[in-house]
Amino acid sequence: MARVFSGVQPTGNIHIGNYLGALKQFVELQDENQCIYCIVDMHSITVPQDPKELKDHILDVAALYMAVGIDPEKSIVFVQSDVAQHAELAWVLMCNSYTGELSRMTQFKAKNKGRESAPAGLFTYPILMAADILLYDADIVPVGNDQKQHIELTRDVAIRVNNKYGETFVVPDGRFLKAGARIMALDDPGDKMSKSAENKHSRVSLLDDDNKIKKSIMKATTDSDGIIRFDPENKPGISNLLNIYSAFSGKTIDDIVKDFEGCGYGDFKKELVNIVQTGIAPIRERYEDIRNSDELIRTLKDGAERAGAIAEKTMKRVKDNFGLGL
Ligand code: TYM
Repeated sequence: MARVFSGVQPTGNIHIGNYLGALKQFVELQDENQCIYCIVDMHSITVPQDPKELKDHILDVAALYMAVGIDPEKSIVFVQSDVAQHAELAWVLMCNSYTGELSRMTQFKAKNKGRESAPAGLFTYPILMAADILLYDADIVPVGNDQKQHIELTRDVAIRVNNKYGETFVVPDGRFLKAGARIMALDDPGDKMSKSAENKHSRVSLLDDDNKIKKSIMKATTDSDGIIRFDPENKPGISNLLNIYSAFSGKTIDDIVKDFEGCGYGDFKKELVNIVQTGIAPIRERYEDIRNSDELIRTLKDGAERAGAIAEKTMKRVKDNFGLGL
């Protein structure tokens, strides 16, 4: 059985990009693999957070994990800060990575834009992510395309440590879906869909009601030639919508284009609204029950115990190989 690890930051507005790029894969993988899914609260404090909101968002994401279909009987689900070894291993890995490679991370460059000085945690963010993955000897890391560079860095650091200190880490592979790996913003298909964009119509959040879903999709930016064709370079808006359609319906883009031959963007968008509403409604309904149940915290505590047992073993191996401690 392969080991799978992934994580999501506990910020509001978890959207269909997160779902199609990551969460949907989490569910698909859990029958055949040993899966560990984390709510990465330590990553989220690399930018300022309101403590009360952060606590709520941790439980929101946990409830969403279950609502999309992650089964805590099959998978381990826990909160990152409940397992102290994440921070411990991150320090060891920081001592084996270079400021040069961290400076090249495009996500850091984007988040750091316009600042004179960045929080050190924002700079070393990818190392904490590497620690998350390497702590659990993960073989597979299901993520969206935006995390590709971070996975590459994780692999580089793992190989570097293995070469220097002997076999210590499993070198993981990223897993990216074809249709959902990079969902773009609805109002600006040149940018990825994000939780933090100011315009709420730039995204469809998993907890949006039917009315909001309809509004956001009907408003989505397309182009003026009116032909439904997949061409991300020249027609990024409609290509993004085709991707979303394909990921939700399971149909290939070629089939969808054939189905809509001769139709206008309006007809296509109406059908897309339908498909997205139908896809999201059951998640939203399950979410409410799970979020309000007492079991949620118990599940997370139990997950932290199970994750902690694995983490402790890895940390022991790391300390032995590095000559740390007594
Ligand atoms: P986060 O919280 O930003 O996003 C969670 C997951 O959603 C994917 N994603 C997208 N996929 C497709 N289209 C989009 N527009 C889109 N936006 C986000 C992300 O790729 C991610 O898979 N650094 C990670 C969290 C993390 C992690 C880890 C992931 C921390 N440690 C260890 C895997 C393994 C992040 O910020 O995800």
